[in-house]
Amino acid sequence: MNKCILISILVLVSASCTTNNKAPSSEGTPYNAKVDSLMNLMTLQEKIGQTVMYSGGWSVTGPTVSSNNKKFIKEGAVGAMLNVYSVKGTRELQRLAVEETRLGIPLLFGYDVIHGFKTIFPINLGLAASWDLEDIEKGSRIAAEEASAEGIHWTFAPMVDIARDPRWGRISEGAGEDVYLGSEIAKAYVKGFQGDDLSKHNTILACAKHFVGYGAAQAGRDYHTVNMGYDELRNVYLPPFKAAVDVGVETFMTAFNEVNGVPATGNKFIFRDVLRDEWGFKGFVVTDYTAINELVEHGFAEDEKHATELAIKAGIDQDMMSSANRLYLEALVNEGKVDVKLIDDACRRILLAKYKLGLFEDPYRYCDEQREKEMVYKPEFLEAARQTAAMCSVLLKNEDKALPLDKNETIALIGPLARDKENILGNWAAAGDRKGRAISVYQGIQEYLSDSKIVFAKGCNIEGEDQSGFDQAIKAARKADKVVMVMGEDYDMSGEAASRTNIKLPGRQTDLIKAIRKAVPNKAIILVLMNGRPLDLSEEDTLADAILETWFPGTSGGYGVADVLFGAYNPSGKLPVTFPRTLGQIPIYYNMKNTGRPIPPDDPKEDYKSNYIDVPNTPLYPFGHGLSYTTFEYGNLELSGETIGMSDTLTASVTVTNTGDYDGHEVVQLYIHDKVGSITRPVKELKGFKKIFLEKGQSKRVSFELSPKDLEFYNNEAFVIEPGAFEIAIKGTSDFDFEHSFNLE
Ligand code: BGC
Repeated sequence: MNKCILISILVLVSASCTTNNKAPSSEGTPYNAKVDSLMNLMTLQEKIGQTVMYSGGWSVTGPTVSSNNKKFIKEGAVGAMLNVYSVKGTRELQRLAVEETRLGIPLLFGYDVIHGFKTIFPINLGLAASWDLEDIEKGSRIAAEEASAEGIHWTFAPMVDIARDPRWGRISEGAGEDVYLGSEIAKAYVKGFQGDDLSKHNTILACAKHFVGYGAAQAGRDYHTVNMGYDELRNVYLPPFKAAVDVGVETFMTAFNEVNGVPATGNKFIFRDVLRDEWGFKGFVVTDYTAINELVEHGFAEDEKHATELAIKAGIDQDMMSSANRLYLEALVNEGKVDVKLIDDACRRILLAKYKLGLFEDPYRYCDEQREKEMVYKPEFLEAARQTAAMCSVLLKNEDKALPLDKNETIALIGPLARDKENILGNWAAAGDRKGRAISVYQGIQEYLSDSKIVFAKGCNIEGEDQSGFDQAIKAARKADKVVMVMGEDYDMSGEAASRTNIKLPGRQTDLIKAIRKAVPNKAIILVLMNGRPLDLSEEDTLADAILETWFPGTSGGYGVADVLFGAYNPSGKLPVTFPRTLGQIPIYYNMKNTGRPIPPDDPKEDYKSNYIDVPNTPLYPFGHGLSYTTFEYGNLELSGETIGMSDTLTASVTVTNTGDYDGHEVVQLYIHDKVGSITRPVKELKGFKKIFLEKGQSKRVSFELSPKDLEFYNNEAFVIEPGAFEIAIKGTSDFDFEHSFNLE
């Protein structure tokens, strides 16, 4: 029998979904009256000016801004600039806006501060692997400290797009495949960037991007079409954005893609119906770069003027780089096609953000030379980045205790990324220095081993066919006790416009591992990876004794990675995304649906079941997986009851014991399975996690509270919480079989 739907509230008036949310702060602020009186003085052109953003450039001597853009600024035709930073550069432009325009409205300076500003932290996919919300918040606080000291008011981050396709290069910028983890991480970033008071000079506006569905681009090709059911949109892709709204994110950015036929930048449903009306978002929405113009290429607008009309009607406030609002909005108003009220609304929201930042009190408050000197690359920032790099590393495999390394051993250090100080920062490295400041893995290892114990050979490049370095690398391997190979992708093989159809290690790197394996069959090979996406590591998994995934670990990356290699930090990272066995399994993610013909566990190859004839359904490394130098045992799962009512809370507890030889952290993960639903539910859903520390031999009881609200989902008609049977488990990975259950009545 079907479950009855107990709570069935129409989405548009869904009180249960919004009652507990912190108001997104804009309405009722002390600034409304000020904004209104300023707007009374503004001409239509000046209001439109606030909705326009242009980009500066950067040369070796500092920021460059075209004379045209300077002219527009002086005319009051620009409200914000991107890609201009440094006190000198921002002060100069701010002066034009404040001292040479009629009303002196300050500019907003935005920039992509994605995983650090100068001190670069691991790429975001790596940050997610720490499952450490406090650390992620701290890292974005540091990024805000540095960026604000260089004149930046606003970051175009976090990217909270769920991504389940490793071909898509921008998977590196997000928190991976999971809706719960992604939502928690979204909140941590926003809190870190915006701090507790936006009027402080060290806090910056955050921006939840890209609204919405960007991660679901067909075939993993960037900017490609997105088409999905509204259940998937609401249950998977929207929640991290909602989480960002819940903690008061001030801005949103549109996605480049279309959503079910309507490009995001012209999509009323997602911006007006969902973001504004349902969620009550009061901040402002910026387009992605030239996204208004792109409505024409999408085949959604006849020309750029039409595109401008569609965008403002859809609820877009600021135009990044299309020049569309500047060129066409006034005419559209005069022709009666666009209600001036829409422009007033957009302008009001942008001005409000400027008031909140305190820019009307002091437009130069982010332009303090002394602070600029003191605030970047502070030793404590670099140290935090080192610790984070260690926390983000995921030990995928460790046979025969290949790791940790021993300080008495000689190490052959091989591979194109072993001495790299450029790629190690990853893509979107903001103002990070790729020319030498970063610490390479080689330098990190030097902290632990004298030079005489490190035999280095590059072996090959990241890409290309050249094998001339193989012999040297083999010689190095022969001289050493263990072989550490640092390999991966180039930093610009992930990020925007960097989709791949091949997710293996590029170039001849795998061949080099094979050659070394053959030359020293009995020596431990430790593969240290830097990459911006899940790779197909099926071959490497058979060749290497240990594999440490370090993503691109950032400015202090080499130190952090060496801390893990030598056991000064016991690895605790867990995968935020599934690593497939082969490209053909994509999309593969842990919380898939069961299908009507799931594979029988005892005969996964059975005919006419949902399987492949050539590879298993299982991934190489599942979501939530990550080893430690110690071992953890989970036992004695207890539930506070077998049945809970709609107003009850279930407590689930488990004992975790450190049964190995090292102290260490463990990420304890709570999963459920809603067995029957009015629409089918995933086979597993993460609903909570806790990172704990256990000394060797120590046990801890770890408890989670689960309320009926946590079991809510959208069933294509409404958000519902449905009674029935649920399975539950608390584990250290998503790879397990359920053994316990409870009922919701
Ligand atoms: C990207 C955005 C980014 C913007 C500004 C675009 O190409 O898609 O994520 O914030 O550029 O740099």
